[in-house]
Amino acid sequence: MTPVVQLKAVTREFAGTAAVREVDLTVTRGQFVALLGPSGCGKTTTLRMIAGYLQPTSGTILLEGRDATRLPPERRNIGMVFQSYALFPHMTVAKNVAFGLQMRKVPAAQIRTRVHEALDLVGLAHLADRRPQQLSGGQQQRVALARAIAARPAVLLLDEPLSNLDARLRVQMRQELLRIQRETGITAILVTHDQEEALELADSMVILDRGRVVQQGHPREVFRAPRTRFVAEFLGYENFLDLPGRGRITIRPEHVDVVEHDAAPPAGGESVTGTVAAVRFRGTDCVVTVDVGGQNVLATTTNDSLRAGSPVRLFLPLDRAISLTGTDSVPGDGGQGTPSLQHQQESPA
Ligand SMILES: Nc1ncnc2c1ncn2[C@@H]1O[C@H](COP(=O)(O)OP(=O)(O)OP(=O)(O)O)[C@@H](O)[C@H]1O
Ligand SMILES: [Mg+2]
Repeated sequence: MTPVVQLKAVTREFAGTAAVREVDLTVTRGQFVALLGPSGCGKTTTLRMIAGYLQPTSGTILLEGRDATRLPPERRNIGMVFQSYALFPHMTVAKNVAFGLQMRKVPAAQIRTRVHEALDLVGLAHLADRRPQQLSGGQQQRVALARAIAARPAVLLLDEPLSNLDARLRVQMRQELLRIQRETGITAILVTHDQEEALELADSMVILDRGRVVQQGHPREVFRAPRTRFVAEFLGYENFLDLPGRGRITIRPEHVDVVEHDAAPPAGGESVTGTVAAVRFRGTDCVVTVDVGGQNVLATTTNDSLRAGSPVRLFLPLDRAISLTGTDSVPGDGGQGTPSLQHQQESPA
């Protein structure tokens, strides 16, 4: 099947500095792809190139199999929802949704049908005659979505469409977005720096770091097997250890066992000793921060006799440890390291 969107080695520089570097991306029909990464990593720049508002410095953009690298936005059949909804304040909701169709000289009867369908889809048909300022943030967001969908684009680009909403509404709109995408089967690329949003919505997740794709795959797969420390940290992993012979690993605090410092460690894992630096009670258990050779490792435990200064041993079951096999360095950057841990040789009993 021909991909709807394909980027081949797309690079965009601003004044000699690359904001997007050699990005390859393939989006197939009906896919919901999330572009994820910290502020400034090149998400919006990537979307703007796909939409045609910005030209790549090098590389190729194919839309439905055709080279669209130099095609103007109006000839790309792409819908875009921006972070700020960019609604026309003086027009009613219905007119806002109709605007793009009128520009494209769609027959009036068809515009009426499509506007109604789109507003119906986002649950706003009853507010068609209101003006944007008479709507809540979530409703305005839906109008922007309806406007993009009414044009029946081959692909819908969403640039942090939920970031202006409060936390509760954001979670609610996520579900709405998912429903709308499933109902219409529309191909969509969602930009977000919220990993939860990506995990919940996308069937493919692309993580960007300083303009480069560092990992992509099904959200579950990326979450279970982050390749680098950057990806792992971005997905909320907190413990990073360099284990001699095993390389760099990450492990969730709930999978680290806190045992007596002089206990014989169980087989099937690594064990390190350290000193409790802090204890945070959470009711049923507590999170302890353990200083291991100058590096903090978090673990959860129900042992409430631990105090700052207590010597402990941490057991890291190997089946829970995730090996971080990739490096985060980008050519031209210094890279980031994890200090190495003192290894304690264990002989399983
Ligand atoms: N028009 C421009 N001129 C110069 N530099 C730009 C321009 N647009 C973007 N950049 C730079 O390119 C880099 C990527 O910007 P971009 O807007 O794509 O980031 P982003 O991932 O969308 O970030 P955010 O999450 O903050 O929206 C940034 O360093 C930014 O300063
Ligand atoms: Mg952006």
